[in-house]
Amino acid sequence: MVKEPQYFNVNCERTKTVAPTEHVNLLDLFAAKKPVTICAPMVEYSRVRFRNLTRRYGCDIAYSPMIIAEDFAANRIQRIREWETDDDDRPLIVQFGTKDPVAYADAAEIVYPYCNGVDLNCGCPQKWAIKRKVGCCLLKRPELLQDMVRQLQNRLPDANFSKSVKIRLDEDLRKSVDLCQKVEAAGVSWIAVHGRKSNALVLRDHPVNYEAIKLIKDSVAVPVVANGDAFTQADVLRIAEDTGTDGIMVARGLLRNPTMFTGTEKTSFAVMREWIAMFEGETDYLAWSECHHHLLRMLQPYIAKEELGEFSALEKRKELILEFIRRKLPDFDTDEAVKVEIAG
Ligand SMILES: Cc1cc2nc3c(=O)[nH]c(=O)nc-3n(C[C@H](O)[C@H](O)[C@H](O)COP(=O)(O)O)c2cc1C
Repeated sequence: MVKEPQYFNVNCERTKTVAPTEHVNLLDLFAAKKPVTICAPMVEYSRVRFRNLTRRYGCDIAYSPMIIAEDFAANRIQRIREWETDDDDRPLIVQFGTKDPVAYADAAEIVYPYCNGVDLNCGCPQKWAIKRKVGCCLLKRPELLQDMVRQLQNRLPDANFSKSVKIRLDEDLRKSVDLCQKVEAAGVSWIAVHGRKSNALVLRDHPVNYEAIKLIKDSVAVPVVANGDAFTQADVLRIAEDTGTDGIMVARGLLRNPTMFTGTEKTSFAVMREWIAMFEGETDYLAWSECHHHLLRMLQPYIAKEELGEFSALEKRKELILEFIRRKLPDFDTDEAVKVEIAG
């Protein structure tokens, strides 16, 4: 049954409200399950519907896309535009990008009742982030990073509200280890490590350094989450085994197949129909754009690149989206629901 969408925005004008979250300690989850499976923060992609879809298929924790803390804390319109959640959207980690400890704590305080924790982006290598001195620039400023974690801890001392960081590797691995030990000392709940350096803008050209992730795991006591190049459940288990980490975070693998944590190789037609049904009743062009740009990723294993170009160029309307898929994939409406087998 498709649930009626219930989106909460910080100022609530656009929508109904959702109940404040009961804060459960996610460290208990890390203690109980290995590896914890995590949907990575993805700008434009890891939004509420997608997070909910991945959780239905074996994802334990989902991150919001990165939100710039200063804009979020200061600007009501920005909050309405950038963040939404609903009652199913738990456990949720909201990720912020900032270099300002006060803006970080302010933004975290706003989302505190409606999520399970916040994360600081210390890995974004894009030009705009470097210009703003956020993202991977924080890797070079361990004292500032410590200060940010400490100020957040002072503002929101609730031990059941997680405070994590997501980093990339430094050129000098000793610096990465030192940074992780510093943020651990400052009180961080866990550390997610994307096993590439900040100059690795084109992901496929730079192999993930799992040994470095293992080194970090062996150097701190807080849970460590490995991130990079997990595209199947077998990858997830292999990376967990090789690195000894407590969780595996996945971005592109989940875009291609939001059910990958259940052991499936690609998104079934039934799950694509489920995804489309999550937009039922939407008349907004932006909502159907969101539906469409995820389908573009899910359809990749089924449809040739040139034909996907045709799909990509479609006007983002439900009937056009469905007409294209049904024309290319005649079985689309009859394929049975996937059998869900959750490992671990
Ligand atoms: C479309 C897209 C958007 C992303 N947005 C963010 C983001 O908002 N914050 C962040 O820390 N990383 C972001 N990343 C990086 C991913 O979280 C992840 O670290 C990276 O893609 C490597 O994981 P993967 O090999 O599973 O894709 C993004 C990646 C993709 C593909």
